[in-house]
Amino acid sequence: MNSEKLIIFDTTLRDGEQCPGASLNIKEKLEIARQLALLKVDVIEAGFPAASPGDFESVKQIAGEVRGASVAGLARALEKDIEANVRALEKAESPRIHIFLSTSKSHRVHMVNKAKEEIIEMGVKAIRFAKKYCDDIEFSPMDATRTEKEFLVDVLTAMIDAGATTLNIPDTVGYTIPGEFSDLIHYLKTNTPGIDKAVISVHCHNDLGLAVANSLAAVQAGARQVECTVNGIGERAGNAAMEEIVMALKTRKDFFGIDTGIDTKHIMACSKLVSSLTGFFVQRNKAVVGKNAFAHESGIHQHGFLKKKDTFEIMDPKDIGGDDSELVMGKHSGRNALQHKCKELGYDLTQEELDTVFNEFKILADEKKEIFDDDILTLIQKQNWSQKNLSTYSLSKVISHFETGGSPEGTVELTSRDGKLHRATANGDGPVDALFNAIDKVTGMACKLTEYQVMSKTHGKDAQGEVTVHVSHDNRKVLGKGAGVNTVEASGYAYVNAINKLLIKSKAGPIEGGEIPGP
Ligand code: KIV
Ligand code: ZN
Repeated sequence: MNSEKLIIFDTTLRDGEQCPGASLNIKEKLEIARQLALLKVDVIEAGFPAASPGDFESVKQIAGEVRGASVAGLARALEKDIEANVRALEKAESPRIHIFLSTSKSHRVHMVNKAKEEIIEMGVKAIRFAKKYCDDIEFSPMDATRTEKEFLVDVLTAMIDAGATTLNIPDTVGYTIPGEFSDLIHYLKTNTPGIDKAVISVHCHNDLGLAVANSLAAVQAGARQVECTVNGIGERAGNAAMEEIVMALKTRKDFFGIDTGIDTKHIMACSKLVSSLTGFFVQRNKAVVGKNAFAHESGIHQHGFLKKKDTFEIMDPKDIGGDDSELVMGKHSGRNALQHKCKELGYDLTQEELDTVFNEFKILADEKKEIFDDDILTLIQKQNWSQKNLSTYSLSKVISHFETGGSPEGTVELTSRDGKLHRATANGDGPVDALFNAIDKVTGMACKLTEYQVMSKTHGKDAQGEVTVHVSHDNRKVLGKGAGVNTVEASGYAYVNAINKLLIKSKAGPIEGGEIPGP
């Protein structure tokens, strides 16, 4: 069976970037555009060229560089906006001009102060003007879901006649609900003369948490383009999340019978990039890309999952370029999962040992919400089976030096459990990197930093920063935390905290050598 194709129109760089606090510079926008091209989205809406010189420049640069995807720019139904688009999109391989115009009664009266006939006239004029420069023209009747249906048909009919090739139906204020929206798409398909000449698109906002559901309902009713953003970022509660739409269509291909051209293995990387550049953290329980999306805690789920993944998992995290699924240890976890976790940590316990650890684990789990790997290691090591492994360092001094154009240098003094002082100096890409390299010199461990996060814990210029690091060594991963007013120093505490956990985990104990004794 030949399945139909859905066009993925990504508006992360336009509607996504438009939301408060998400603004990106040109370099960052280009980086995201490259990642969107890798993902193989069909259309990248790169910005609103008439909105600002910065927006103009970023659309221009993206149009000049990105290949494989169409590049679109947004325009009001005004000649000056369309001209700005024509100039910005000049070098695009496949340019698209996206013209929008308010159509609902509330917008007609309060936004544009125009009668229905004037709206149609303005839209037609704009499309005819744009058509002189560009074949691919998209038209959006803004606030379509609150526009009178009959008027919407009149507007769309006129725009098709004027040359629009895509008709986008925006749920601008996230007002519609799935059944109603699919009825609307069906109504427009049935009642708009010439609608087969254009692609029907939808653009849903998430004010009621229904953006993805509404978009999918529209696809079922015949829409063949969906506008969406990475991680669902966008005005107010955001736009439909691209990764959710794409994975819903892939996972339920049996139901929709529709393909997207998206290379899903790049989803996770794209989500992380957008989150780190906008500073918008992805909520833990976010579908598809949230930290918990592939994590299981309940004993029953873990038991089933360990027997056969599809008992409790409908997607493979590898399909989105994510890490393996995670068994989270907590009060709901069972003996099977604990045994599995101990094995992962390198301990093959006897039944008797497992019973002891399991009893202590349950007591701890009642007190502590989340049980980390090192909590379990401590429980194992408390049993005296491997007492000699508890070796640690503490950070006694940090000296950090950097100047513009130079190579940052960090010096550390660490005290080991036996009271010895160790000192080392190293360079790095930045002050934190230099510090971590100096710590590695002392411990002799070449650790890999996989994640680094600084959060302000208090307000003001002298705010306390909390640094979280994820560090891996020899296929073992730990999390370290450190806090302080000085972020570089707090980073050092976090890194040493992680190293101590790795050393507790390491059956071999601390690694000797590589250290330069201090004075
Ligand atoms: O939400 C909206 O209506 C828009 C249009 C410009 C398509 O973003
Ligand atoms: Zn929008």
